[in-house]
Amino acid sequence: MLQGDTGPRDSFSSKFGVIAAAAGSAIGLGNIWRFPYVAGQNGGGAFLIIYLLFIAAIGIPVMMSEFVIGRSAQLNPVGAFKKIAPGKKWYLIGLLGVVSAFIILAFYTVVAGWTLEYLVQSVKWIIFSGRIGFSEMDNVALKEFFSNHYRGFIDGRWRPILWFAVMMGFTGYIVISGVKNGIEKYAKILMPLLFLLLVILVIRSVTLEGAGEGLVFLFRPDFSLLRETPVKIIIEALGQAFFSLSIGMGTLITYGSYIQKKENLANTAISVAAADTFIAVVAGMAIFPAVFAFGIDPGEGPELVYITLPVIFQRMAGGLIWAFLFFLLLCFAAITSTISVLEVIVAYFSEQLSMSRRNAAILAMISVGFLGVLCAFSEEIFGIFNASPDLLLPLGGFFIVVFIGWFLPKDKSKRELSSDGSHRTRYYNLFLFLVKFVAPLAIAFLFVLGVYSRLITLFPGAN
Ligand code: TRP
Repeated sequence: MLQGDTGPRDSFSSKFGVIAAAAGSAIGLGNIWRFPYVAGQNGGGAFLIIYLLFIAAIGIPVMMSEFVIGRSAQLNPVGAFKKIAPGKKWYLIGLLGVVSAFIILAFYTVVAGWTLEYLVQSVKWIIFSGRIGFSEMDNVALKEFFSNHYRGFIDGRWRPILWFAVMMGFTGYIVISGVKNGIEKYAKILMPLLFLLLVILVIRSVTLEGAGEGLVFLFRPDFSLLRETPVKIIIEALGQAFFSLSIGMGTLITYGSYIQKKENLANTAISVAAADTFIAVVAGMAIFPAVFAFGIDPGEGPELVYITLPVIFQRMAGGLIWAFLFFLLLCFAAITSTISVLEVIVAYFSEQLSMSRRNAAILAMISVGFLGVLCAFSEEIFGIFNASPDLLLPLGGFFIVVFIGWFLPKDKSKRELSSDGSHRTRYYNLFLFLVKFVAPLAIAFLFVLGVYSRLITLFPGAN
């Protein structure tokens, strides 16, 4: 049954299904590709501490707020605010989310497409391993080889565009299939597999010679960089926390609307946030030891994972077969996230503009297609899109917590969180304090600082 047709609204079928789907949304390139390189550029351990703080004090409350809004309204982000706050302007938050969804989906699907390139390449690397001469290469040569491959691929332009289109197609296909038969079914199998593979990678990475330095980099906070560029680091930590948890954009309002009434929303939010954070840290433990063992610069940027990991794989028994497996799962992790972004647009088009799910998905894919091609063509546009979540998501998150903290009557949020009194809500006062004061004030403060610091970098002379 397609949701949006007549008949009962589609929903997740089980508790595990909900967590798998929401964790599937949260866990993705944000954890494995973005977290390590952003942490690397921002000094490692000190960044990690700030990041964890934001997850706990802001991320989880925002996530719970999104679930409350979505499940109580049973609608997409725009429709949900219109229903809960009729005649008010709150629905603009939903629209902001839909706009953010277009931007995020565009660059995210481009990076997701890279995984397909690496899948195909790893088959080639496995077959021609002898001819390429991997086993004769020293660490420096190996790193050179994969750096050159990455640059050649990105600069070639057309292959990234092709893979982007393929990825968009997969995403659209799953979203058109609906919630239970599409999103939930895939997430339940793929997420556990990804985790298993990451653990194997960590074991290999930390047993490389010289790996210890990488663990020190990730876990021993060095506050010197924080003293130099505090605003940049704190803002990127906040943006990364939002991005990684999939919050601030209405994704979890939309998923919340598919959660059954009996589920415990606070538990769900905490499980999802814990799984997401855990995977990011585990990804860091797979990457940084290898980065240091092979003399790669941790501040390398978006290419970090795509250069570092093939190097580790080559140094493992079994070689690039691991690369194939890894990029396969990374591709799946990316798809469970891309579908959650596309779902926001599709739920909005189909419920608010009365389109069929299929037409909504096709229209969305074509429009995102244009933006994605721009990202594949210009690294500058890619950079702007990739940096935009740092501001867009906290902005959305700000209004979401203000809505729950200051607008929605307390008994409503409490009833939703307790599933009409069947779960305990002893945490409720803490939650209220966080959504009323801590989260809005912290976000507002950092948002203003962030906009200010970006303006300064755009117009350096004006200072
Ligand atoms: N959280 C996902 C990741 O870490 C990306 C993502 C999916 C997302 N849906 C989102 C980010 C909604 C922001 C908002 O890869």
